[in-house]
Amino acid sequence: MTSTEKFITSIPKAELHVHIEGTLEPELLFKLAERNQIMLKYQSVEELRKAYNFHNLQSFLDIYYEGAGVLQTEADFYDLTWAYLEKARSQNVLHTEIFFDPQSHTSRGINFGTVVNGIKKALDEGRQKLDISSNLILCFLRHLSEEEAFKTLKQTIPYKDSIIGVGLDSSEKGHPPSKFKNVFEEAKKEGFLTVAHAGEEGPAEYVWEVLNLLDVSRIDHGNNSLTDEKLVTELVTRKIPLTVCPLSNLKLKVVTQMKDHPIKKMLEKGLIATVNSDDPAYFGGYVNENFLAVAQSLQLTKKDIYQLAKNSFDASFISSAEKQNFLYKLRKFEA
Ligand code: ADE
Ligand code: ZN
Repeated sequence: MTSTEKFITSIPKAELHVHIEGTLEPELLFKLAERNQIMLKYQSVEELRKAYNFHNLQSFLDIYYEGAGVLQTEADFYDLTWAYLEKARSQNVLHTEIFFDPQSHTSRGINFGTVVNGIKKALDEGRQKLDISSNLILCFLRHLSEEEAFKTLKQTIPYKDSIIGVGLDSSEKGHPPSKFKNVFEEAKKEGFLTVAHAGEEGPAEYVWEVLNLLDVSRIDHGNNSLTDEKLVTELVTRKIPLTVCPLSNLKLKVVTQMKDHPIKKMLEKGLIATVNSDDPAYFGGYVNENFLAVAQSLQLTKKDIYQLAKNSFDASFISSAEKQNFLYKLRKFEA
């Protein structure tokens, strides 16, 4: 292991952009299909993995929603979340903010409570047994209507104490953030924090919209912000963090090669960029593999890596007391 690899592996970090359904490894997918007596169109784990060959966001989402179909019971959501927490903690992730897509489950007849209770049970146990802290963020699917999002928000109310915020994900092109202005306003009134995917495949204009119409605290991806200097200045001035996902960007052809990845440029421009895995079971790596990929391709220094790790705690939704505790642990890694 090189000294950079050792540094990446051991530095404490937070993960702020991971879809729990995207952590479903093929092995667990097959196990759950068998447990729930679901016929898969793939004969083996190897055959399924071969299908993970994406040419854009939509080609990934089609397979991702299909995979999520094996999740049926509270125990399934628990097992899924527990497996992710163990993996994340083994990579020195001390805090994680997890997305889930309730509409991809309720649309199949699964109760909202089944999903949240299963995830929450694992998060509570993770806090006690793994010493990993966590927050849960619900995402509205943007290819569906705002009315559907309102229905989902209503289902969330009894679980308010377990969910810190709402986000926006799924097919970006053709589904501008403005479509969800009212439901985000209502979510804010209910006390939820807000984030949104923007500028992954969509234009800088969508990033402006999530800032100005959805009033988000963070932007998920945000790559295309760099095409608009005024927007970059706005993000820097308002200290709006970006949750960047390098391996996802490569697999979904948001960048053609890792050498072209904008994360170093983001740091140079003073943006609060963070490194995240998005859908690690589909994109070939958890958070440390994402750090390693950009460190190698962009010759990141230890100072850059330290900055990215520090940004991850600064950009998180933890209390300032908890933040101080994590930053204290980070201090001995300061380059
Ligand atoms: N849902 C899961 N992963 C996603 C991504 N990268 N972009 C939009 N929606 C998603
Ligand atoms: Zn995402």
